[in-house]
Amino acid sequence: PSYTAVVPAAGIGSRMAADRPKQYLPLGDSTVLEHTLLGLLKHDTIGTIVVAIAEHDAWFNNLAIARHPRIITVSGGKERADSVLNALQQVATEWVLVHDAARPCLHPADLAAVMVAGQQAQGAILACRVRDTMKRGNGLGAIASSVPREELWHALTPQCFATTTLRQALTDALACGASITDEASAMEWAGFNPALVEGRADNIKITRPEDLALAQFFLKQTVD
Ligand code: C5P
Repeated sequence: PSYTAVVPAAGIGSRMAADRPKQYLPLGDSTVLEHTLLGLLKHDTIGTIVVAIAEHDAWFNNLAIARHPRIITVSGGKERADSVLNALQQVATEWVLVHDAARPCLHPADLAAVMVAGQQAQGAILACRVRDTMKRGNGLGAIASSVPREELWHALTPQCFATTTLRQALTDALACGASITDEASAMEWAGFNPALVEGRADNIKITRPEDLALAQFFLKQTVD
């Protein structure tokens, strides 16, 4: 296998207002995180999946998938980027994919596309075009200007990079206090221009309560 997948799953999901972190919420006959991990396990060029879980996580070890031979865990960090960096210390392959725990609807064709495109020095991310007209606010509840939407993309995951390049970029960006909300931001900070791979809009990140019903609908449409 030439790829390792890293899955940051150490967030608390405060916007869900649920009794547990969103990756552990029920989805169909299992949980959000299990759907996410199964989507990655289906691809046999991904050897190991490194899952970053919170230090006092009481949920992960209760999942059946926790004992899967291709899955290992590490402790997460304060921010998502810290969790990813901890997981990257366990990655021995040349290429790495980073995929949000909270994106259970990844389509196999999108996964394959970003893996192919990522095998270049600057890496690649799944992304989709913005549909709505975009505005910049003036901070006072009114419009300052319109932003040309032709230039704008939603950054999704997986994101695929050369492991050593990403590890260095994240280490340096964090040391300088840069704001890093996905792996591509660290690569951009280091001067790279990762490729945009247009992916499916149903690869949603579970964020708000209504997203669970949407994910269930999308999974029924796309899987098998
Ligand atoms: O909060 P947000 O939806 O942006 O989180 C994206 C992903 O990063 C989630 O899968 C979450 O579990 C993970 N995360 C993490 N460590 C943190 C914060 C978030 O692994 N400290």
